[in-house]
Amino acid sequence: MKLKVNGKSRSFAGAPFKRLIEVLREDFGLTGTKEGCGEGECGACTVLVDGEPVNSCLIPVCSVEGRRIETVESLGNPGKLSPLQEAFMERGGAQCGICTPGMLMTATAWIKGGGSAAPGAIRECLAGNLCRCTGYQHIVDSVARAVKGKGGGKRR
Ligand code: FES
Ligand code: FES
Repeated sequence: MKLKVNGKSRSFAGAPFKRLIEVLREDFGLTGTKEGCGEGECGACTVLVDGEPVNSCLIPVCSVEGRRIETVESLGNPGKLSPLQEAFMERGGAQCGICTPGMLMTATAWIKGGGSAAPGAIRECLAGNLCRCTGYQHIVDSVARAVKGKGGGKRR
């Protein structure tokens, strides 16, 4: 089947019900997406499908055939971070980093959708993304900074 991942056309010939997170990590080498609970509870595995955050641990790859998939690798790279990634760096939004790719993808959708910088609204938006390091205030601050700077998903 054909998939569109981070703007590139990719082919996958494996089992159609293989989980999307496994296809991304094992078949496409996109290991930025992390697995936490594996049960749809933590949001660590969040990627965007047609611009909407989804838990990639829950969905079979066949369900996203032909749809637009974006992973954290689409945002920036170590030499050129996206404005949102820069805000996480500046405001200490990442601690151990396991939840960070999922947080970044959910926040990217929030910013692109015109979400506000109000802390309460950001917390609600990120309610499905759990941080075991409990650094929520820094994460909210990071997203708010990016919203105020109009720092969206992709690098400028
Ligand atoms: S690993 Fe997918 S929601 Fe936790
Ligand atoms: S930074 Fe460690 S789980 Fe969030």
